[in-house]
Amino acid sequence: MANNSVILIGFMATGKSTVACELEEKHGFVRVSTDEMIISKVGLSINDIFEKYGEEYFRKLEDDVILELVNALKTSNKNYVIDCGGGLAMSKNFHLFKVVSKVCFLDTAFEVILKRLADDTTRPLAKDKAKMQNLYGMRYDLYKKSCDFVVNDDNLDIIVKNILKKVTK
Ligand code: S3P
Repeated sequence: MANNSVILIGFMATGKSTVACELEEKHGFVRVSTDEMIISKVGLSINDIFEKYGEEYFRKLEDDVILELVNALKTSNKNYVIDCGGGLAMSKNFHLFKVVSKVCFLDTAFEVILKRLADDTTRPLAKDKAKMQNLYGMRYDLYKKSCDFVVNDDNLDIIVKNILKKVTK
């Protein structure tokens, strides 16, 4: 098991995918996106999975993806960066991640998220902005409790530098 892996959690549009790509491209991490895993397993977009099978089914797929990734992290000597869907930290299996990796919460202000998602059509839970704000409020403390460290910055280089400092310690 490599010990420089990092699991990125946080609300939609907090930059998890951007940070994960940067860690992959510039720092040799193996990047995995839980949403991409689910999309390729089911063969449908996230919107279509929600529409056809419902959110509960999507959450069950997230539970399974965690088990799969925990095994991968346990048996690999590579450093992973896991880009988690925004609701993954709420999974009953999430605590298993903490045994195999450090967890980083990308903490972005709701106003910034709102701007980034203004024209988004790919996320089923970002369609109704009032409901989204409510969800943000409900999840915020849980993100904080679920992580080993928080990164709160809007500069990609600084975010990456802070993460590397924490995971290579
Ligand atoms: C979700 C976040 C999305 C995706 C799905 C549900 C959520 O991922 O997993 O639409 O519940 O917050 P991103 O955080 O990458 O947008």
